[in-house]
Amino acid sequence: MSAGLSFEHVFQPAPQPGASTLLLLHGTGGDEHDMVPLGRLMAGANILSPRGQVLEHGMPRFFRRLAEGVFDVEDVKRRAGDLADFIGAAAAHYGFDPARVVAMGFSNGANIASATALLRPGVLKGALLLRAMVPFEPDPVPALPGFRVLISNGSSDPIVSREETDRLAKLFARAGADVEVHWQPTGHQLMPGDFAVAKTWLNTIR
Ligand code: MLT
Repeated sequence: MSAGLSFEHVFQPAPQPGASTLLLLHGTGGDEHDMVPLGRLMAGANILSPRGQVLEHGMPRFFRRLAEGVFDVEDVKRRAGDLADFIGAAAAHYGFDPARVVAMGFSNGANIASATALLRPGVLKGALLLRAMVPFEPDPVPALPGFRVLISNGSSDPIVSREETDRLAKLFARAGADVEVHWQPTGHQLMPGDFAVAKTWLNTIR
């Protein structure tokens, strides 16, 4: 469904009005349906799940990359702006509160969530980042007081090193965000520990 909005997406309204909105951002090769079942981790939230608009060999992504882990920074910035605009338009269209949008992204979806938070402070209230990398180095580093970040990365991830995770956590900390890092004993794939941590965190941020 696009409902005249700029991204193909799924929207599922919360059972009660006035709820927070969980923005679900899929990984490379996923789509708007993939992460919808994870919406149940945040009790009572609206679900907004867009599909990335870049195709890499037919696989949807949220921004272009030049190689694995090497991002097209201009494209990252442009696409993060497009996503921020979409969130605002979706809030007006569906009538949810734009000040209470929390992102949950996996891999490429986590990276666009970070980029959006860094480029457009205020669009997201928090971000739950699963297997996340630094999307780009903002200069200057924005001020994100009150912004909450949870990073859940794999301790043996061949795509995301420990140093990369530390760099991301430090970047958000320098911006004044409240950052938590959790390590899962796994690689790039998600495991039950991610969902346990996600559930606890998501239900403290609403
Ligand atoms: C990316 O944004 O490229 C990721 O972190 C890696 C991936 O999506 O496969």
